[in-house]
Amino acid sequence: MKHYSVLLNETLENLNIKEDGLYVDATMGYAGHSKEILKIIKRGFLFAFDQDKEAIDYSDGVLKQIGDNYKIFHTNFANLKKTLAKENIFQVDGILFDLGFSSPQIDDSARGFSFMNDAKLDMRMNQEQKLNAYEVINCYSQDALVKIFFEYGEEKLSKVIAKKIVEYRKNKKVNTTLELVEIIKSAVGSNYFFKTHPERKIFQAIRIEVNSELEVLKKVLPEAISILKPGGRICVITFHSLEDRIVKRILKNASEVDDIVKGLPQIPQEYKPLIKLVNKKPILPSAEELRQNSRSRSAKLRVGERMK
Ligand SMILES: C[S@@+](CC[C@H](N)C(=O)[O-])C[C@H]1O[C@@H](n2cnc3c(N)ncnc32)[C@H](O)[C@@H]1O
Repeated sequence: MKHYSVLLNETLENLNIKEDGLYVDATMGYAGHSKEILKIIKRGFLFAFDQDKEAIDYSDGVLKQIGDNYKIFHTNFANLKKTLAKENIFQVDGILFDLGFSSPQIDDSARGFSFMNDAKLDMRMNQEQKLNAYEVINCYSQDALVKIFFEYGEEKLSKVIAKKIVEYRKNKKVNTTLELVEIIKSAVGSNYFFKTHPERKIFQAIRIEVNSELEVLKKVLPEAISILKPGGRICVITFHSLEDRIVKRILKNASEVDDIVKGLPQIPQEYKPLIKLVNKKPILPSAEELRQNSRSRSAKLRVGERMK
């Protein structure tokens, strides 16, 4: 399987991996990062999460060949803290989030993530989940569509596009990805369509809605920080500005002293920041990586280190 892990060396370096440490890969995917972590932690343990059954089946086969000191959980990373607690794990040395979808997910046209191949509207990362893109497009009200297209796609013509979808569905359900692309094109006109590619933004918005991507991210990051050992690191790779804004804000908040105690000569222990930011600016792919994998172009890695 051809699969390229984004910011691989930078992530391994920034996780500060110890041979006997406990690590979490919250988004194992096709095990690109997990495989390298497992090679280093000869006396440690890796807990890997993914909500995609196909990714898990593949990656289990890969990791098995390296060692047996790992466990995979087929669940949303929203359940990370709870799942680890059931294993009696309350603190770990490092946690990685490599957000979004993997190349095999988008390349498998049957999953309906791509606006370039025709497929049933789907976009579920977890194939066992009920809500899919078909339901969003055919059952959401016009106002609800406008809201998600604006918020999760930041598309200027969200109203026009949502109106066209609702008009179309009066005669016929929207079944496939390319049918949706055609509706978007007819709503905005060819000039705007070919100049700004609203279909990218609309597909991003639907994917975020189907998989509740931003909600789970907001929930899990504080929990992940809370289970880091002192000196433990959290690494988060994002692929678009909506995710990156959330990661930046949550890491920044956790690294700042609370307003009520700001200016005190000595900050009481319970008010000290939980983490320090390892880099002020996000780490970006090198020119070499960009050359090898154009999909890495929007990637940003942010890193925090637990203080107390
Ligand atoms: C970018 S890929 C990870 C690639 C991986 N680091 C590698 O190198 O092979 C993201 C993976 O995270 C999974 N994923 C995304 N959001 C998730 C969530 N909320 N819970 C569990 N898995 C999630 C996706 O199914 C996908 O397999």
